[in-house]
Amino acid sequence: MKLAAVLALAALAAAAPLASGPSSRVAWTVETVRLVRGGDAAKGKKLHEDCSGCHGPAGDVDTPDIPNLAGQNALYIYKQLQDYKSASRSSPIMGEAVAALSDRDMADLAAFYTAQRPSRSPGAPRRSDPAAVKIASVGDGTRLIPACDACHGDRGAGNQNFYGMPSLQNQKFDDLSVQLLTFRSGERANDVYRGMRDVAKSLTDGEIAGLAAYYSGTRAKPIVRPEEPGKTEKK
Ligand code: HEC
Ligand code: HEC
Repeated sequence: MKLAAVLALAALAAAAPLASGPSSRVAWTVETVRLVRGGDAAKGKKLHEDCSGCHGPAGDVDTPDIPNLAGQNALYIYKQLQDYKSASRSSPIMGEAVAALSDRDMADLAAFYTAQRPSRSPGAPRRSDPAAVKIASVGDGTRLIPACDACHGDRGAGNQNFYGMPSLQNQKFDDLSVQLLTFRSGERANDVYRGMRDVAKSLTDGEIAGLAAYYSGTRAKPIVRPEEPGKTEKK
């Protein structure tokens, strides 16, 4: 092989991991877990004053596509804030909101949110759509979809044994469906080892609506695709 070709290949190989980018810069080292678990909720409350315009006085708000934060897993919140800052999870709004936050600020904010009482009734999601309940609790072996609850905990209530695992309860239909749609399209790609992208890739629109309804404890409605705002698809 000619030297130029070898160099070009080497350059490609070196560029490849950068081009695709790491899904997240957060690794659950002992130090990171200790930092987050030692977060100061009182300091977080003060920092939250800059966020409350969108996220409400205690982390929850009625706006359909703004996620609820009250009671959410602290490691998950910390990771999302880091991912927005490093642009591993892209959101112009949140990227700007976190730009000046330090690691400790993020740990303090996470401690504040996780200590807040969720605004929505906890648990007991409706068991209306049997297909969604089946995927949530058993999965679908024919499509290699594991049960959602195997990772997210019984009825999506969270899983402390799994670092950074979000609770799916206390979330709104629209936010849940948007997150599943963006994992499916790959637009949201901050899930380590593609965990959620692989799960979401074979879900149909109807299943996404059913799962979002199941975990939000509401009735399924047509989902709005984030890439085509305003357009809806029937279940
Ligand atoms: C201008 C409105 C706005 C402000 C200000 C704002 N946020 Fe957000 N936040 C959003 C929106 C919209 C999203 C959803 C973005 C997406 O889809 O990734 C979000 C997402 C998040 C998430 C991810 C939640 C999840 O379930 O994945 C966290 C955590 C968060 N915000 C915390 C904060 C903190 C902390 C601040 C203040 C430093 C803040 N936000 C300021 C609008 C805002
Ligand atoms: C292999 C474990 C695993 C399985 C199975 C799994 N998830 Fe997840 N899920 C995760 C992890 C880890 C995250 C957090 C990704 C990150 O760090 O941003 C996540 C994130 C999510 C989010 C985003 C939460 C938020 O607040 O933004 C939703 C929604 C979700 N999962 C729904 C589901 C549904 C529905 C299923 C079943 C079809 C499922 N998950 C199956 C591990 C899993």
